[in-house]
Amino acid sequence: MVITIDGAAGVGKTSTAKELARRLGYQYFDTGAMYRAVTLFFIRENVDLSSRSEVVKSLDSIKLNIDFSSESEMQIFLDEDDISLKIRSQEVTSKVSAVSALKDVREMMVNIQRSFTANGNFVVEGRDIGTVVFPDAKYKFYLQADYDIRAERRLADFEKLNEAKNINEIKEDLEKRDKYDSSRKLSPLKKPDNAIIIDTTLCTFEEQVYKILKHIEK
Ligand code: DC
Repeated sequence: MVITIDGAAGVGKTSTAKELARRLGYQYFDTGAMYRAVTLFFIRENVDLSSRSEVVKSLDSIKLNIDFSSESEMQIFLDEDDISLKIRSQEVTSKVSAVSALKDVREMMVNIQRSFTANGNFVVEGRDIGTVVFPDAKYKFYLQADYDIRAERRLADFEKLNEAKNINEIKEDLEKRDKYDSSRKLSPLKKPDNAIIIDTTLCTFEEQVYKILKHIEK
């Protein structure tokens, strides 16, 4: 079974999805990490995003591996290289929206997402999970929150990575990414039909997890 969690950056998807997976005994699947991994690969390979043939050729040679074995964590690899932390860099973050807007990239990622989850129980987080990847999922959630709180959460993420950041810079980046992710032609970020909206602006972490669990247990 798949539970979908969609929403913009910084709304609390990751922490919530991980905790939900832990409590339900499901595996946690971060699909944004896949788009970030492809972005890192394209940076390393110097791929020109405006050239479809270069993009397709590069995708043919990508060896993306995911390890779901550790509880509530997901490790992602390019070949044998564990890139789980490297994909969080500012360089990848600033380029990932453009990469995730490419048709060939999305098609490949969606196929992988469906095949990896064919067996087992997963909490899957992303932007198009309830709309495109698993539109028939029984439980679909859409998380949202105000800009200020989202920027503060992102700042805390960067602090964990020891990357110095300014809150205004983060806000600008969030706005830019939201605009890009919600207005792109392919699988734009939007609330999936029948999804339950969870506004996390005023919620503590425990509250947002509780709200979701309550819907599932109903
Ligand atoms: O959740 P995140 O910030 O790690 O996601 C990185 C980017 O990947 C985000 O800007 C949009 C894109 N993405 C997507 O297009 N579809 C998904 N299912 C997940 C992420």
